[in-house]
Amino acid sequence: MVENREKSKIFCYFVSMESDEKSFEISRLLCQWYEENKRELPWRQTRDPYRIWLSEVILQQTRIAQGLPYYNSFIRHYPDVKALAAADEDSILRLWQGLGYYSRARHLLEAARSIVSDHGGVFPRRYEDILRLQGIGRYTASAIASFAYDEPRPVLDGNVYRVLARLYDIEANILDSRSEKLFLQLALETMDPRHAAVHNQAMMELGALCCTPASPQCDRCPIAAHCLALASGKVSERPVRISGLKRKTRHFHYLCLYDGHSLYLQQRQDKDIWQHLWEFPLIEDDATDWTALLASHPEIGRWTGRGASLLACRHYRHQLTHQTIQADFYLVRTGTSAGSPSEKAVHIAVNEIDKYPVPILVKRFADQLEALIS
Ligand code: ADE
Repeated sequence: MVENREKSKIFCYFVSMESDEKSFEISRLLCQWYEENKRELPWRQTRDPYRIWLSEVILQQTRIAQGLPYYNSFIRHYPDVKALAAADEDSILRLWQGLGYYSRARHLLEAARSIVSDHGGVFPRRYEDILRLQGIGRYTASAIASFAYDEPRPVLDGNVYRVLARLYDIEANILDSRSEKLFLQLALETMDPRHAAVHNQAMMELGALCCTPASPQCDRCPIAAHCLALASGKVSERPVRISGLKRKTRHFHYLCLYDGHSLYLQQRQDKDIWQHLWEFPLIEDDATDWTALLASHPEIGRWTGRGASLLACRHYRHQLTHQTIQADFYLVRTGTSAGSPSEKAVHIAVNEIDKYPVPILVKRFADQLEALIS
């Protein structure tokens, strides 16, 4: 919970200036620093909301260096929102492969289609309308509205939380959703509303380049003179991050049913991780080995056929934000009268797997396949 002490500290800070003489000195210093120090990035050289949106969704998944090739490849394939709206889902998932959180890619497509069907193909201008698009939350809507249209909406990403927590020496836990309101208020108060785009980017860039988590360069910080955590010697203690996250562990058993030429892939349908991605026939079960799995799942016998043999097993651990996946892959040479594991499974040649969007965990094993069967 945000403590009252904290609220009053901030309140005093802001009311110490009469509103009509509010100079936005912090914002001015930040923006000046930004112009002199910013990294040149493709989405900073445009005001096209589509490109800004795409960059933000990608950067929610990965760092700039890893995200850049994805961004460039999306722009090459789909240079505008109409081109994206006309794409098929498999192609989008394939381009997204490796970024994780595939629902973000599906939402991109859905939102592009609704921009075409409900907004005549023109990206909405106002924050409130942007927020209604599929998969766009407050952060992304603020980033688009401010970067593309200079609407004074504060963006709060990890970098901005850190800068604000230090600037105002905030004790509240940033991982507690109840702290968001306080940070939004601080971000809004700090922003010069006449320069929302540059101000927001400057906050993010300061967090990325100067006000870094482990060794912040306070001696080079443009707003060090205003930093309350620096004044109280608390920079290394801010922001406060106390995680209540509990991860569950799941055991996946993947059956790679190989007949000497082809194998089966099937598409994930359930409302679960990796929705609509492709994978080998899967059994989710706490069994610890192949024999135990066979004993509790007699259907496997029908899929593998008579005289089948187990060629190889591989184990991988895959960490997601809320789940740990313990995965066993079984490469089985199927025998006579082996059957399809499901009506919807596709039977494809080994070298065709690359055409399908698969979770990176499955790709790890698929990349080994050629070597294992040769
Ligand atoms: N991370 C998230 N959004 C970003 C942006 N626009 N520029 C740099 N890093 C970012």
